[in-house]
Amino acid sequence: MSYNAWFQCINGCPGQYSLLEIIYRCPTCGDLLEVRHDIDALKTRAAGAWIKLFDDRVGQNVYPYGSGVWAKKEWVVPFIDNENVVSTCEGHTNLFWANRYGKQLHVEDLWVKQCGNSHTGSFKDLGMTVLVSVVNQMIANGEPIDAVACASTGDTSAALAAYGAAAGIPTVVFLPRDKVSPAQLVQPLANGALVLSLDTDFDGCMAAVQEVTKHKHIYLANSMNSLRIEGQKTISIEIVQQFDWEVPDWVILPGGNLGNVSAFGKGFLMMYDLGLISKLPRICVAQAENANPLYLSYLTNFEHFEPVTTRKTLANAIQIGNPVSIRKAIASLQRFNGVVEQKTRGEKGDSRPRASGRDLDRQWPEIRRSENRVSRWHAARYPEHFTKPAR
Ligand SMILES: Cc1ncc(COP(=O)(O)O)c(C=O)c1O
Ligand SMILES: [Zn+2]
Repeated sequence: MSYNAWFQCINGCPGQYSLLEIIYRCPTCGDLLEVRHDIDALKTRAAGAWIKLFDDRVGQNVYPYGSGVWAKKEWVVPFIDNENVVSTCEGHTNLFWANRYGKQLHVEDLWVKQCGNSHTGSFKDLGMTVLVSVVNQMIANGEPIDAVACASTGDTSAALAAYGAAAGIPTVVFLPRDKVSPAQLVQPLANGALVLSLDTDFDGCMAAVQEVTKHKHIYLANSMNSLRIEGQKTISIEIVQQFDWEVPDWVILPGGNLGNVSAFGKGFLMMYDLGLISKLPRICVAQAENANPLYLSYLTNFEHFEPVTTRKTLANAIQIGNPVSIRKAIASLQRFNGVVEQKTRGEKGDSRPRASGRDLDRQWPEIRRSENRVSRWHAARYPEHFTKPAR
């Protein structure tokens, strides 16, 4: 069976565009594009057969299916040649049962998906493997692409530079001067990216990279390019898989540029449409009070949205005032009956050391699960984490 996927406008304007075309926005309305899959073709394989295929691929040695992203290749970019996939075996990250932290928060069954256990230390690898693989396929097909470029608060540039280096594709990164931690800055430098440090914030860097990538020889790697979302969407599939295909009640995630909210929604909806799950979770997006445009929009029931000028946030990766995926994020929150919360720097500073008891050094998606039962799948692999006391 051959499966297919293409770009389409998020507002439903007519037109489908190949994933191998250099296009980031809808030519009719100027809004973002999203990747659409041929769901009818995917439905020709039964839900149980998809589950078996995905479970069989866990830990598989045949490239690239050992990757958590490419294990779901048919749902990501079905037609890409395996030899053009650029993978560091990303994904399949640990799902912690955050027992003690959950108790402190009075959340009975709290789990943390540690997406930062990855090649560059953030979930950005999941999307970047997809984007760089597609660029690699385009170059193999003869497309004259000289470089890939992104704006970043740190993690995106680290991921782009790493995957660019693995593929041998030059990378250019635009970073806000003095706003990126040394640990993140060192990664694009070490991987040979052209690092441009600008006297502006993330939003200023984003404007600069969009200008530069109007030139088609430089390909845009920020999450307004929805190829990234296709990779990140596998996080939600993986979470459900790690719960033996059960759906958590809530998924809580940090919101900056808001790519992940849309990605999570997409992953859950695909599983739902294809019959792998029969309910959807609720989604909660957490923002910093100093960079809270989505929260302010939520207070108006999403009727209004205004970009904000940000102030310094403790988690520098989410200091973003004009999130590029705002429309997709709002659609996702509305579909999942979602909520948005904000935290002050003091509250964040207070919760961080408590969470660090589980080595949670950054802001990762947190999962609450209704059933008071430990995942068999996980318990078998990490018995030392799962000696859950009887209540
Ligand atoms: C560690 C980390 N958390 C959260 C975010 C924000 O994610 P999103 O843009 O999907 O809202 C980023 C983005 O840079 C990040 O690097
Ligand atoms: Zn449109």
